[in-house]
Amino acid sequence: MAFVLTPWQPPPSRPELSDHSLHLWRFPLTCHESFEQFLDEHELQTAKRLLVPAKARAFITARARLRQILGLYLDLDPQSLHFNYGASGKPVLAGASSDDLSFNLAHSVEWGLCAVTRGVAVGVDIEKLDRQLDYAKLAAGFFSVCEKNWLQASSNHRRRRHFFRIWTRKEAWLKGKGGGFSDPDQDIGLAHLQGCCTHDGTWWLRNFSVSRHYIAALAVPQEFSLVQRWDAWRN
Ligand SMILES: CC(C)(COP(=O)(O)OP(=O)(O)OC[C@H]1O[C@@H](n2cnc3c(N)ncnc32)[C@H](O)[C@@H]1OP(=O)(O)O)[C@@H](O)C(=O)NCCC(=O)NCCS
Repeated sequence: MAFVLTPWQPPPSRPELSDHSLHLWRFPLTCHESFEQFLDEHELQTAKRLLVPAKARAFITARARLRQILGLYLDLDPQSLHFNYGASGKPVLAGASSDDLSFNLAHSVEWGLCAVTRGVAVGVDIEKLDRQLDYAKLAAGFFSVCEKNWLQASSNHRRRRHFFRIWTRKEAWLKGKGGGFSDPDQDIGLAHLQGCCTHDGTWWLRNFSVSRHYIAALAVPQEFSLVQRWDAWRN
């Protein structure tokens, strides 16, 4: 059975990624340390453009944690890492070859989430289960016909949660591929919608919980038998 997820547990001081292993890290964004020292000029400029202070704070914290996490695998100082960006903005480690570490970062309100693996692309998404969100409007704007039908077929009391399951899977998949997000025809396919862990021949998707009120999804282009989950920097 693909994708056995360990419970969230404290990370080792020097995490090791063997071939065919994948690590998920969760970390709180609600901390008050000063993280600017870890960021490069490009990141500091990005943070400056974020006019909502909470968003700027979350961006800085998540980038600093990302650097700390990757630094542990690479045995490098967090501030010495360099990122390149794909055409749609996906960050990758500069100079990484196809066998090297790959990662993806996501954040939502109080939580950051980072996936780290080796040699394959990866995507993650996390969302707060917002009870006020007009999810029907978002589904109308962003879901394919197939996804809308699937959502509509769920019972009233389950529909909001179903929306978040589909949304996070789709977002993780799009982030894994690293392409654009605006094509309305991007359809994760019925197979991905029906099961917990299903396969359309190229990508594996899996929902999981990050904490109460937070749902996440992982997307990878191959099966992983074990996904280790690390619970870092808890307040
Ligand atoms: C750019 C985008 C990744 C931002 O998504 P988001 O939900 O606001 O943010 P997330 O927390 O999931 O991910 C943000 C992180 O993903 C990474 N990222 C940015 N662009 C990316 C891309 N094209 N592909 C993969 N990862 C990307 C970055 O590390 C970013 O964090 P940082 O810049 O703060 O360091 C993209 O998903 C987006 O604009 N989505 C809009 C909604 C949409 O169109 N959804 C359709 C699918 S249902």
